[in-house]
Amino acid sequence: MTLTIAIDGPAAAGKGTLSRRIAEEYGFHHLDTGLTYRAAAKALLDTGLPFDDEAVAEKMAREVDLSGLDRSVLSAHQIGEAASKIAVMPAVRRALVEAQRAFSQKEPGTVLDGRDIGTVVCPDAAVKLYVTASPEVRAKRRFDEIIAGGGSADYDAIFEDVKKRDERDMGRADSPLRPAADAHLLDTSEMSIEAAFQAAKTLIDAAL
Ligand code: C5P
Repeated sequence: MTLTIAIDGPAAAGKGTLSRRIAEEYGFHHLDTGLTYRAAAKALLDTGLPFDDEAVAEKMAREVDLSGLDRSVLSAHQIGEAASKIAVMPAVRRALVEAQRAFSQKEPGTVLDGRDIGTVVCPDAAVKLYVTASPEVRAKRRFDEIIAGGGSADYDAIFEDVKKRDERDMGRADSPLRPAADAHLLDTSEMSIEAAFQAAKTLIDAAL
């Protein structure tokens, strides 16, 4: 039987790094579901068609190829913003959730990270983690990442973006970001990624 680990939380909370570590540790397949929204958004941006046409957005979502997702071509800020806009559309969510559920069945196990994995995509996941950190800490992490990559960044602008994205993700009617009732909360504000990984490992080992 497949074992699924669901990891949810707001932008820049450390879900991605944590999910990759867990997938590597247990030899599980990993899907960053944010990339599926980003891929659909990029395809839509590339068409140049208006952004509020739900039928076109749904078509783009249905054409997303889960095996060809590459964060390096989907990381642009503009794509993240566009992703969170089409993520409010129920038809887009239905299409992507279907593909994500199919992925979650892979043997011997899977790690999916996103916003609605424990609540909607995989409500029966063996372990659910809700990874969070204060908006200040998350903005600082984004800022440090950009600087470390040789770019230039404005902390205040990033902080405003983080708050705006939270509002959109937590405030939408369809599948808002919130912890599942049976999720374990992991606040990484004052925790290293290694400490977060050890905490997650203890919870997962107990469920295996
Ligand atoms: O995590 P990432 O920043 O790549 O996700 C981009 C956007 O996609 C999020 O802000 C969110 O609006 C949306 N998303 C979602 N449900 C998921 C994953 C991402 O709505 N499971």
